[in-house]
Amino acid sequence: MNLVLEILWLSVIIIFSYLEALVKLFIPAKRKSVSGEIVLITGAGHGIGRNTAYEFAKRQSKLVLWDINKSAIEATAEGCRKLGATAHAYVVDCSVKEEIYRAAEKVKRDIGDVSILVNNAGVVATADLLSTQDKQIEKTFQVNILAHYWTTKAFLPAMMENNHGHIVTIASIGGHLTVPFLVSYCSSKFAAVGFHRGLTQELAALGKDGIQTTCLCPTFVNTGFIKHPSTRLLPLLEAEKVAEKLVDGILCNQKMIFLPPLLKVGLLLEKILPERALLALNKIHEVKFDAVIGYNTEKEH
Ligand SMILES: NC(=O)c1ccc[n+]([C@@H]2O[C@H](COP(=O)([O-])OP(=O)(O)OC[C@H]3O[C@@H](n4cnc5c(N)ncnc54)[C@H](O)[C@@H]3O)[C@@H](O)[C@H]2O)c1
Ligand SMILES: *[C@@H]1O[C@H](CO)[C@@H](O)[C@H](O)[C@H]1NC(C)=O
Repeated sequence: MNLVLEILWLSVIIIFSYLEALVKLFIPAKRKSVSGEIVLITGAGHGIGRNTAYEFAKRQSKLVLWDINKSAIEATAEGCRKLGATAHAYVVDCSVKEEIYRAAEKVKRDIGDVSILVNNAGVVATADLLSTQDKQIEKTFQVNILAHYWTTKAFLPAMMENNHGHIVTIASIGGHLTVPFLVSYCSSKFAAVGFHRGLTQELAALGKDGIQTTCLCPTFVNTGFIKHPSTRLLPLLEAEKVAEKLVDGILCNQKMIFLPPLLKVGLLLEKILPERALLALNKIHEVKFDAVIGYNTEKEH
């Protein structure tokens, strides 16, 4: 086909896609069953990870729960069992590649092939760049993005073989927009969003249409992860609600979930507003949280 015809065809597809989206607004999307699926969640000892485990437990998935905190992960596993699911707790430090690979081998041996992988574990250092210690920056990248590579490399091969699976990336709106005093965190989340997008396209290019991907990008969630967060335009979310929306999105094979969905307007504005207007908008928005501010030359790296 020549280019003109192809572009005409593209406009037909664009119009069709909008019509399809319009119709779908009124017809509830089909939700897949996750009963019996082996679901692995990292950082499942608290917050979004723990509540996501409970959502899968309610749907009779088999849970494999990883966290660095032993008492926390055992409590989540117990909570899942109370909901009638089987759950296996593992103590894994996701900042260490060898630990991830070792734990992954053990999971494959003891339980089987993971078909839903939720990369949720995350850490944050709230401070200005020069007050952030080197080891905090390294840890942020090890947990928030590198760990996603190691878990995916461990569990994707079986998903490829069966052309069946789902890889979930817990990123953040900080993976699309930045704020001061979260430079290392936001850049690690930009990487996580990039990982999700790249992997999504690659699976499509390889024809693996049975392997889905989902990326979650919420604003502040009330888990204590970031201390005393507030903004003037967005609500502070609760982990239970975030986990409900996440799992619902996973069941519909939704690729990108913004919470609240209003964030999409923010993204659009960020792309189209002039710099001066953006500064004014940021001033009105007034994002706040506890942070170490004030570079001290005495401080060690
Ligand atoms: N809370 C928020 O405001 C918010 C907003 C957007 C995105 N997120 C993201 O959601 C995810 C979960 O955040 P949360 O608010 O539930 O945090 P949380 O602090 O409540 O829970 C995080 C869990 O991860 C575990 N963890 C930390 N380091 C680990 C490591 N090295 N190995 C294994 N486990 C480790 C912790 O022990 C804890 O149980 C993170 O990736 C975070 O970046 C959080
Ligand atoms: C580990 O989890 C327990 C129970 O949830 C909690 O009380 C404790 O503060 C956590 N420890 C660390 C180091 O986060």
